[in-house]
Amino acid sequence: MDNKYFDIKDNCRKSLLKYLLKAISIIPVIESPLILDIGCGSGVPTLTLAEIYNGRIIAIDVDTKSTDRLKEKVKELNLSNRITVVNRSLFDIEFNETQFDLILAEGFLNTVGFQKGFFKLLKLLKRNRFFIIHDELRNQNRKIEFVESNNCKVLDTFKLDEQVWWNNYYKCLEKEISSQKNQDLLKFLNPDLREIKLFKKDSSQFNSAYYVIEKL
Ligand SMILES: C[S@@+](CC[C@H](N)C(=O)[O-])C[C@H]1O[C@@H](n2cnc3c(N)ncnc32)[C@H](O)[C@@H]1O
Repeated sequence: MDNKYFDIKDNCRKSLLKYLLKAISIIPVIESPLILDIGCGSGVPTLTLAEIYNGRIIAIDVDTKSTDRLKEKVKELNLSNRITVVNRSLFDIEFNETQFDLILAEGFLNTVGFQKGFFKLLKLLKRNRFFIIHDELRNQNRKIEFVESNNCKVLDTFKLDEQVWWNNYYKCLEKEISSQKNQDLLKFLNPDLREIKLFKKDSSQFNSAYYVIEKL
């Protein structure tokens, strides 16, 4: 059941990957990087990172069902030597500082708080290396100012408006949910259905921005 649930959502989530690819195209090529995917979920972006980069990825999420699903995918794809999946909160892990060449935080900072999450993650990034954040759109200018006041440069930022979210995610999810007959699965998908209703009521809440950042 969980797998089917993740398959439906992951399949729709994939249409947004082109925006991650756009963000990645802004940073220089890094050979054999050590990457942190924080708040990796069931790993749609994680597996894209593994296709693009020849290095190693540590994928962390506090949600056990999501990390269990990603662990299965990693095993099926024979990527266990390159992707380590960790089921913990970022704030409960002791890292050696400044070890990562690239940190990806998609949908993570808006969950834990932009400044709190940013400070914790910045310590883990090597100098002259890169941080890609995908966050809710709110306070975009203030966030850029905050990032740049912490010895970082925002190389680029771009917006995903509500149209992008509808065409590349919610439309697909609505179609998948409406074609479902399985009542158990529909129970799992109920929060997503509520999210779609909220989207239809006020889509202006549903936009986001990527920030491509270099630590100086
Ligand atoms: C919006 S989802 C994004 C999932 C994935 N990055 C993606 O873009 O498809 C945010 C994820 O952050 C995770 N998360 C929230 N707080 C966390 C924490 N303290 N440590 C690690 N993961 C956390 C949630 O469990 C959730 O899977």
